[in-house]
Amino acid sequence: MTENTRIALVTGANQGIGLQIVTDLAANGLTVLLASRNLERGKAAAQKLEGDVHPIQLDVTDEASIRAAAALVEQQFGRLDILINNAAISRANGQHTETMQDYIKRSRATLISVDEVRTIWETNVFGVLTVTQAFVPLLRKSDAARIVNVSSGLGSLAFNSTPNPYRATFNPGYGASKTALNAITLAFAIELEEEGIKVNAVTPGFTATALNNYEGTDTVEQGAAEAVRVALLGSEGPTGTFTGSVNQTYPW
Ligand SMILES: NC(=O)c1ccc[n+]([C@@H]2O[C@H](COP(=O)([O-])OP(=O)(O)OC[C@H]3O[C@@H](n4cnc5c(N)ncnc54)[C@H](OP(=O)(O)O)[C@@H]3O)[C@@H](O)[C@H]2O)c1
Repeated sequence: MTENTRIALVTGANQGIGLQIVTDLAANGLTVLLASRNLERGKAAAQKLEGDVHPIQLDVTDEASIRAAAALVEQQFGRLDILINNAAISRANGQHTETMQDYIKRSRATLISVDEVRTIWETNVFGVLTVTQAFVPLLRKSDAARIVNVSSGLGSLAFNSTPNPYRATFNPGYGASKTALNAITLAFAIELEEEGIKVNAVTPGFTATALNNYEGTDTVEQGAAEAVRVALLGSEGPTGTFTGSVNQTYPW
């Protein structure tokens, strides 16, 4: 790595879309920190990749883990250029073998337990807030910092308030957590605009991963493409946007 090599950190990167984002950023010549809550899983994933990839432990629901990861990045690299908040869960029970049909049925607003909603928001909303606050000091040391929040079209209130076949999936757990993530994205974008730090949300599209029992219709390559494009935006690039592949504007 040279002094000019860009340094990116991707959360929840040991599998799925996050792993593909790491793969693509490393192929673009970046130094990539592959963050995972379980370091062994992260190391195993990193071993199969080409390029300058460094596994790092980071559980987005554990403040001590977040602080330790930020301290490690500071010590080893001195700054961060790109933070990609990718880690998320769709359900609290970790049962990724549950079919989408069963999941949609039991996660309706009248049925989902408040405890499950809290658990999902802890990762998808408060996790992103905590991680971003912890890494902003390191992003401020970059001359072209970017934050990319991996959201979902399912989080769009505009989309869900008009009749469409997908909106039955919108629920107070995962769906609403992505609405809240969009709001947080905008709050960071507004505050950091003056400093030139670009903060954008992206949606991967319905991608075959553990999150949806591999029932998604897109490949991880397709799912990662917009996050990678937005992560690599130049100085002329926008901030405070919500887009899907490729550069398609989504309503908030
Ligand atoms: N797949 C889709 O159709 C789709 C559509 C729209 C948006 N998205 C978004 O795309 C992103 C990636 O999801 P995916 O589809 O690739 O799902 P995935 O394959 O299930 O990957 C999710 C990743 O997040 C990690 N994670 C979960 N909780 C964590 C925590 N507390 N700390 C750190 N990492 C944690 C998981 O780690 P473990 O391996 O340890 O569980 C895993 O690496 C998510 O933000 C998701 O909401 C996906």
